[in-house]
Amino acid sequence: MISFRKITWDNYREVLKLKVTEEQDDFIASNMFSLAQSYVALLNDDLPPMTYAICRDEVVIGFIMMFHDTAEESDYSEESYGVLRFMIDKDYQGQGYGKAAFAKALELIRTFPQGEAVSVYLSYEPQNEVARKLYASFGFVETGEIDGGEVVARLAL
Ligand SMILES: CC(C)(COP(=O)(O)OP(=O)(O)OC[C@H]1O[C@@H](n2cnc3c(N)ncnc32)[C@H](O)[C@@H]1OP(=O)(O)O)[C@@H](O)C(=O)NCCC(=O)NCCS
Repeated sequence: MISFRKITWDNYREVLKLKVTEEQDDFIASNMFSLAQSYVALLNDDLPPMTYAICRDEVVIGFIMMFHDTAEESDYSEESYGVLRFMIDKDYQGQGYGKAAFAKALELIRTFPQGEAVSVYLSYEPQNEVARKLYASFGFVETGEIDGGEVVARLAL
């Protein structure tokens, strides 16, 4: 059973221990970096990034970081959610957990927890075929834009 849990004093070390494979290292920042970014955002933004430990029953197997942008804040000039980081630990990949967790992320976004939105944006390295296929299966369409070397994709809500 996959669930999203708030990152707490009890589980944050587990989140920091999660690793992707060596080949995937260039596809995503470390969870340490992402949590540091969340802290900086927390000190400077109105709304904290939506960071969660992805759990299979009681075990932490992944991490996700999402955010909400108003039309003014958004690079794409529309009120939207973004999925900035999404990873499943290498020992738990290829077992359907990524798909289940991402479905849960979209379910959460569709409750509009931080405000209204018309779309979800994310980006991935051009060679990240697994991510491309996964996101496309949920209806994400590549916009043709490249952001920091990454392919941008959009889902209309
Ligand atoms: C992307 C990621 C989260 C997918 O997690 P996962 O738990 O392996 O995903 P699933 O097991 O649900 O598999 C999803 C699909 O990818 C396929 N897949 C998973 N790992 C694969 C691999 N190493 N090679 C080929 N296909 C793979 C699965 O077969 C499945 O395809 P299907 O829908 O046709 O059955 C995981 O690979 C990951 O953490 N990658 C590194 C970080 C990253 O790239 N994040 C995304 C960009 S920010």
